[in-house]
Amino acid sequence: MTAGGAVGTPPDVLPDPLYPTLGQPGLDVQHYDVRLTVPAPGTPDLRSDTTLSVRADRDLNDVRLDYSGPRVLNVTWNGQSVPYRHTTGQDATPDKLIIQRSLPAAQDARIRVTAAGPARGVPDPTLNITLGWQSVPATPTQPGANFTFSEPDGTHSLIPCNDHPSDPATFTTTLTVPRGVTAVASGSRLADRAHLNGTHSVTFTLTTPVPTYALGISVGTLDTVRRPDLGAAGQRITLTDYFPTSVPDAVRAPYARTGDILTALSGWFGLYPFSTYGSAVVTPDLPALETATLSTMPVRSSRERVIVHEVAHQWFGNAVPLASWTDTWLNEGFATYAELLWTQAQGQDAAPLLRSWRDRLRPGTRPLTATTRAQMFDATAYARGALALHALRTQVGDDAFRTFLHTYTRTRAGQPTRTEDLLHLTRTVLGPQAADLLNAWITQPDLP
Ligand code: TRP
Ligand code: ZN
Repeated sequence: MTAGGAVGTPPDVLPDPLYPTLGQPGLDVQHYDVRLTVPAPGTPDLRSDTTLSVRADRDLNDVRLDYSGPRVLNVTWNGQSVPYRHTTGQDATPDKLIIQRSLPAAQDARIRVTAAGPARGVPDPTLNITLGWQSVPATPTQPGANFTFSEPDGTHSLIPCNDHPSDPATFTTTLTVPRGVTAVASGSRLADRAHLNGTHSVTFTLTTPVPTYALGISVGTLDTVRRPDLGAAGQRITLTDYFPTSVPDAVRAPYARTGDILTALSGWFGLYPFSTYGSAVVTPDLPALETATLSTMPVRSSRERVIVHEVAHQWFGNAVPLASWTDTWLNEGFATYAELLWTQAQGQDAAPLLRSWRDRLRPGTRPLTATTRAQMFDATAYARGALALHALRTQVGDDAFRTFLHTYTRTRAGQPTRTEDLLHLTRTVLGPQAADLLNAWITQPDLP
């Protein structure tokens, strides 16, 4: 799904300045039906059967999906086998699954890809992390596990996809795992069916479009902790957290506040965009990630402040997607600012947090738009982004700021969004002075 659903990818969105090979201009994936079998949790072994419902906003000579996952077994187009070519990133060619079939403008097709083999993720030397499918081998004290960590472009290490946030889509995910193993994914849980061969299949459905990197999956020996539902403004939100059985109570404790956090942030941001939420705690030492409706929370990040941050991303990043990787500050600035909103909602002083953000920028800062991949998740994206929003709020006051946030999340949901779009909205909702102030925070080399 892209801007406005039927409108398609805005022509100026791709190629992305920081990731010029990701995504295909003109291709609009509306839905992914993902079926994964994890035969031996903790190992990279994977079988996948993915059906993409696609549409084009211009005539395409072929369909070029991002893909670097297990070996492709078969590709069908509306049910019929179709020729394909899989290029890999080896000799400077991008990782693409090229399907040799033309797709005329405004026409729909269903593309089904089956694959099997080891999924090892993609090492990202700049971000210093392996993205995509993660395998946590069994140890004497802990059974094996797998999960996704995909921002910015790890999802194509798992399934073929249009791996750019400007093409958000809905997802149905069915996970087949051995009996006794818990499998969870982004969205609401539908069915859990036991099979005679000792496996079971669980299906999740996510009906709000999100970027591909936000697809969250977690498989392991997990305790499921169901919290009381949240019901407000005619909304009903189910809350469920998942903890590896080896994880102690001290790690689990802060997650009991999730419902209060969702309630407090909804007051500022508007209706929560999904019908379920929770955290899937994982043991490796990675950053936390705001996977849709199911944040991926390393043991080390199991703190209230990080929970707040990932909940905020459900609006900023997941419901409202980026148009470009240069604008990560739109995600990280709002999510970081949410930490201050929560601090104040608790009746605590926000001054130490404001000071800590300024301290983080002491070594240096830059205009908010990133010009390199290394800047995407740097201190400027987080701390300067948050300070910019605080400056705006201080100028316009709480009521206007709340209206502005509600308008942003309502009007930009599902719409690939740029810094310019935020500035435009600032001008229309808050006036030219506010827009000028925000613009200074966005563009000046040093802090205004
Ligand atoms: N978006 C994540 C968060 O702040 C952070 C993140 C995602 C990240 N991918 C990354 C940080 C890669 C460093 C490298 O919640
Ligand atoms: Zn973040």
